[in-house]
Amino acid sequence: MEEIKKIGVFTSGGDAPGMNAAIRAVTRTGIRNGLEVFGIRRGYQGMIEGDIVKLEYSTVSGIIQQGGTILHTARCKEFMGVEGRQKAYNQLKKFKLDAVIVIGGDGSFTGATIMSKEHDIPFIGIPGTIDNDLYGTDYTIGYDTALNTVVCAVDKIRDTASSHDRIFFVEVMGKEAGFVALRSGIACGAEGILIPELKGQLARLKKLLAERARQNKSSIVLVAEGDDEGRAIDIATKTQKEFPKFDIRTTILGHIQRGGSPTAFDRVTASRFGVAAVDALLDDQKSIMIGLANNEIVHVPLNKTVKLHKEVNKELLEIADILI
Ligand code: F6P
Repeated sequence: MEEIKKIGVFTSGGDAPGMNAAIRAVTRTGIRNGLEVFGIRRGYQGMIEGDIVKLEYSTVSGIIQQGGTILHTARCKEFMGVEGRQKAYNQLKKFKLDAVIVIGGDGSFTGATIMSKEHDIPFIGIPGTIDNDLYGTDYTIGYDTALNTVVCAVDKIRDTASSHDRIFFVEVMGKEAGFVALRSGIACGAEGILIPELKGQLARLKKLLAERARQNKSSIVLVAEGDDEGRAIDIATKTQKEFPKFDIRTTILGHIQRGGSPTAFDRVTASRFGVAAVDALLDDQKSIMIGLANNEIVHVPLNKTVKLHKEVNKELLEIADILI
């Protein structure tokens, strides 16, 4: 592999708290190793358009505590086509970038995997998504902050739920995965958790809700947005029809889960990932994702992270089952 002198870093897909800490770590580790570091703004869209700026040590001062991403992000349709990727590659060559670090989730890594097959450019992935749904890593950047945001919100909702003896269906993010719902559900002491990974939960849940309603007890049900039974609002409507006497409300937490200052855990994990990503490049690695397994940094082939499915933690499923 040619000697690496200039690297690019960008964020892609949904923003996640802690992305800035990763950008900071990549920039500073790169500079400390004598590299020039460039920020590609607005993800693959900015790569196609050549929206690329030099990052200095001081550019990344005062950002570790900020949510969102100073480089901005995008979901880019044009990059899905061969022509879009060719344009992106031309820009990387124009700026003489020797390698790129992508901070994002599944879709961002799919793009990187395809591009690195078509063009000779090393990609290293840093997992950044609040969904925590990436194979090969126990944690993704932003997951811990999102969990804490959900817990904080549900604790507040619980005050109203118990004051009015109501049933609340609270929808949390997770397009295809229940990681946020499962872990935050345990942390909130939810009476029900509906996630795509667990089938046939609704029948059991309805029995429990009916029993609790008879005793004038409130209930909180966390619903992952990708659950097979539908969105929280649909589940609530169906349940209301079946049990007209229930006092039911629905809350969709939505994008508040993606914002806010990252937790200490996300800041430290993002910093570890950023340092490890630059180290990996200097070690001639390519097409890998940096991950965390049992609190150790690991390297996972990028194509595996997109091909393989991450299972929800069985122990947590059991805990939820016992404690509900
Ligand atoms: O991929 C992360 C995620 O937060 C999903 O859980 C959610 O469905 C999606 O992003 C929402 O994306 P957008 O902000 O583009 O609507």
